[in-house]
Order: sequence, then structure tokens, then C-alpha cells
Amino acid sequence: MSAAPHLAIVGATGAVGVEMLECLDQRGFSFSNLTLLASARSAGKKVAFQGEEYTIKELTHESFKNIDIALFSAGGGISLEYAPSAAAAGAVVIDNSSAFRMDAEVPLVVPEINPEAAKNRPKGIIANPNCTTIITLMGLYPLHQAFGLKSIIASTYQAVSGSGAQGIIELDQQTKALSNGGEVQQNVYPRQIAYNVIPHVDSFTENGYTKEELKMLNEGRKILDLPDLNVTCTCVRVPVHRSHSVSLTAQFEKPVSVEAARAVYTDAYQGVQLVDDPQQGIYPVPLDTTNQDDCRVGRIRQDAVVDNALALWIVGDQVRKGAALNAVQIAEIL
Ligand code: A2P
Repeated sequence: MSAAPHLAIVGATGAVGVEMLECLDQRGFSFSNLTLLASARSAGKKVAFQGEEYTIKELTHESFKNIDIALFSAGGGISLEYAPSAAAAGAVVIDNSSAFRMDAEVPLVVPEINPEAAKNRPKGIIANPNCTTIITLMGLYPLHQAFGLKSIIASTYQAVSGSGAQGIIELDQQTKALSNGGEVQQNVYPRQIAYNVIPHVDSFTENGYTKEELKMLNEGRKILDLPDLNVTCTCVRVPVHRSHSVSLTAQFEKPVSVEAARAVYTDAYQGVQLVDDPQQGIYPVPLDTTNQDDCRVGRIRQDAVVDNALALWIVGDQVRKGAALNAVQIAEIL
């Protein structure tokens, strides 16, 4: 793709769609034309972007004529139904949903890790990985390069914005109701999220893991091209607005030490910062990474239980690097 592309955003009114516009602007992404698509509910709404006014159009199968790159973030059902139409019309689809991630003919790309995978896309679709998986792998990739990743034992602390705008509304309404002595309303989460944590993200599968927990295993294997990678994970929703955190033990093939691990986080790795001086109270927290591009790694320790392993803590903005930014970076490598 040489000339500036005609871009479309499907789900332009959603949390990730809006963040995609912000990333395009911040990165100075050059495009020849921009088409913003959403449901019939939003058709006709005006969106100001870079001094121009854009009108939201209703998504249809005919929306993709002359579109070069279509960024999809309107949920898996919409992707399954409309991404093939976009690809058939000649657009490259970058899909933020889970619809195509494990399709062998669809590359699953984190640009800092496996950018070359984006070249081989027989279906004209490239998948954006799960947000928690992106953040975890961004933190682990420099260690994997140096020491060879073997297994991950993780617990996640996932922000309510991972459930869209409704997740934030539910947390805020419940917190307000409780502080006024009122009753909590539950619409989004299976349990009260205010003043609580819920070990349940996405639906449960037959083996007791949730779909979200299995994404770290299956998508991790695909992105790193490590079919034998072992992952066990517990995904937990926490009353945080934005940025996911992951506490994990990572086991390696080659001998590893805390000093050697800290030394691998150099400028050679874009998008990840070491923030690790606990004696001085320096470690990453979600409020620090909110609206930031980079994921942050801290609390690196020799794991006390697992052989040749490190315990560490990784935090990243899941709406940005976990979704919108990663998709825009894929568009850049096209
Ligand atoms: P709309 O605002 O018109 O409903 P979020 O994840 O933040 O809830 O955003 C979901 C995005 O997906 C929104 O932009 C939403 O548009 C869009 N969307 C939902 N359903 C459809 C649909 N049937 N056709 C096109 N876009 C849709």
C-alpha cells in the first residue's frame, strides 16, 4: 500500500473506535479519506476530527467500496458478518474482536513482536489480539527473547472499561449508591463490582477456565509461535476504570536472574518500560499507564516456588495498547 489509504472505522462511536481516532491523530497517520461507520442508531451524527466534520454512516455490506483499510471494533458478531464483505471489496480488515483470532488463515499481530505475520493474510483479515494478552506479551517479550519463555502462571486485575462504557457506568453508579446508603443495580457484572473483585471475565468453558483465560494460552502460543507454551491464568475484574494489571510467574528455558532480567529492558524494545525500584515505592499502577502508549513492568523477583522463573507485575492501558493503538500500528505496517 503506497499512497495514503482510504480508512474506515467500523464501530467509530464506541470506546475503542473513539480511541482509534485519537491514536490516528496522535501518530499523524496519513490517510486520503476517512469513513466512519456504526449502527443505524448513530447514522447522521457528526464527529469533528482534525478540523473536519465527518458524518457517521450506517454499516452495510456495501460500505467498503474504495476502502483500503477497515478497522473493525463493533463486536464479534459484526466482524463475522461484515469483515468478509470488506475483504471481498478489496479492503484489508484489522479486526479487534475475537471472531478470527484463532483462524489459521488469519494472522494475529502485535507489531513489536511479530510484524512480519501481517504480510501473510489470505483472507484479507488481520486480527488484533485480546487486550490482556497484548499487555502480558509486551511485558514478557524482551525476557522471552533473552531467556526463552516456557510457561506463565498469571492472575489479572482487569479494569471495568474492558466491558465498554457500560462497565464504567455500573462501577460509578454502584459506588455512588453505596456511599448514599442506596441499593446497587447490577446490569453488566454477575456480582457487585463496587468495593469488590470478581473472578469471572467472559463466559466459563467446560474445563472451568473462562474464555478470557484461555485467550492468554491460545493467542500467546500463536503470536509467539510457541506451540508448547503452557499458561494457567485467573482473570479478575477489579473496580478500576482503566488499565489492566497482570501478576505473573514466568518460567524460562535458559538460566535467568533478576539482574539479567532487568538488563534486557533496553531502548531496543519499543512500547515497554521497566519501572522497578520498589524500595523507593516505584512500580507501575493502572493510574500511571492510563492514556499512555507504553506498557510497564516492575516488581521483578526470582520466583520462590517455580524453578528458573521470575515473578513480575505488568500494567498497560487496555483500551489503547490493548486495542486501538495496536490496530493503528498494524495499519502503519501495511
Ligand atoms: P452505535 O454507537 O451506533 O451503537 P462499545 O464497545 O463501546 O459499546 O461500542 C460498540 C460499537 O459498535 C459502537 O460504535 C456501535 O455503534 C457499534 N455497533 C454496535 N452494533 C452495531 C451494528 N449492528 N452495526 C454497526 N455498528 C454497530
